[in-house]
Amino acid sequence: MTEPSNPAKPWAGRFNEPTDAFVEAFTASVDFDRRLYREDIAGSIAHATMLARQGILSAAERDAIVAGLTRIRERIDAGDFAWSIPLEDVHMNIEAALTAEIGEAGKKLHTGRSRNDQVATDVRLWLRGEIDEIRDRIAQFQAALIGLAEREAETLMPGFTHLQVAQPVTFGHHLMAWFEMLERDRERLADCRRRVNVMPLGAAALAGTSYPIDRAYAAELLGFERPAENSLDAVSDRDFAIEFAAAAAILMMHLSRFSEELILWSSAQFGFIELADSFCTGSSIMPQKKNPDVPELVRGKTGRVFGHLMALLTLMKGQPLAYNKDNQEDKEPLFDTADNLKGALKVFADLVARLTCNRERMRAAARQGFATATDLADYLVRKGIPFRDAHEIVGKAVAFGVREGRDLAELRLAELRGFSPEIGEDVFAVLSLDGSIAARDHLGGTAPHQVRAAIARARARLAQA
Ligand code: ARG
Repeated sequence: MTEPSNPAKPWAGRFNEPTDAFVEAFTASVDFDRRLYREDIAGSIAHATMLARQGILSAAERDAIVAGLTRIRERIDAGDFAWSIPLEDVHMNIEAALTAEIGEAGKKLHTGRSRNDQVATDVRLWLRGEIDEIRDRIAQFQAALIGLAEREAETLMPGFTHLQVAQPVTFGHHLMAWFEMLERDRERLADCRRRVNVMPLGAAALAGTSYPIDRAYAAELLGFERPAENSLDAVSDRDFAIEFAAAAAILMMHLSRFSEELILWSSAQFGFIELADSFCTGSSIMPQKKNPDVPELVRGKTGRVFGHLMALLTLMKGQPLAYNKDNQEDKEPLFDTADNLKGALKVFADLVARLTCNRERMRAAARQGFATATDLADYLVRKGIPFRDAHEIVGKAVAFGVREGRDLAELRLAELRGFSPEIGEDVFAVLSLDGSIAARDHLGGTAPHQVRAAIARARARLAQA
């Protein structure tokens, strides 16, 4: 970071001694908030345009400001801009550069505005863009899940409760459960975006301004839904940031659970799936290892995203109205949250598109653990036995199977009839995995054609948004 020699602070008028050098560095935010330069410049251009329309700036001043800010943006884009710590933050850096660039008119840009409404506007503009990008990336991940679910719509696997084999499901059905979670995440972010997209500009420091500004016009220029209603609230509200962090935490919780399944399933003990080599790494000592680093890292990064939610909540809890410098601390958690979400979503979309599964291993696992025991109970109910009695009968049959080391489908008819004379030859269709799957033939069920119908509906939902 290069620094101009001793730049004058915009607020130096009231002060009798220069800022302590350490305090200057301690309070500066430019090292991280420079990331907001595009939004800061867009907000300033809209502000100047509105001021000119209201006769507060001349058309010539507006033109000079817009042209100057545009050149500054191009210079920053090109990496040709000297950020200065003594100028504290992105706002004062750009304003000082503007005045250096265009002279007197630059000093008029801040008319009717404060850094307090400016920074809140910048962060909202930035977050709105991030939310749009994150929602797109969720959709890409969902599309990858749908593709795999379609390919594996008939693939049998054990469904688990308590991580114990419960009932057979199709892999396609299991994958579509992840689609649903992500769909809720996408909705939550769309809902959060509505409250992000409200414009603080015009609140000035906290009380509004004495200039005849047109806030609705500025909001329209910046694509905001409306100006914020209350100036005190406008500069101090960070609910939108907390809401985003909460939606992000829930999304990361989902990605972490998904990670956990990928890690378990790719282990030798499960052997259900294989992750592409390019998504794994080896061990420096154990030559046989192929580690699922990507899902492990996503699971690990979930911790910091949860932490950012807690940081933002705690940041706000003690603040009296209106703006306090504490709020400068809102940016790094937000930036890191958005970066981690985008990274995790991208890597998972790519990973899932290249995921292969071992259908034989999955089917074999579903054959263990008496996964069709519930089907046998349902069969007995159809023969007129009350469900609780049927449950008891099947429990005894399972205990017998455990002793014998055989699954229910491997018991002979005579053995099964020993538990209930109602059992007939037709029981074996019920005890088969395919029969069990096909029987769950209703909306939300695991029968392959229901899974295909769910996939078709999911595609339509994705296409809508
Ligand atoms: N860097 C500050 C922030 O991020 C900008 C607003 C500063 N306002 C002030 N009155 N000091 O919040």
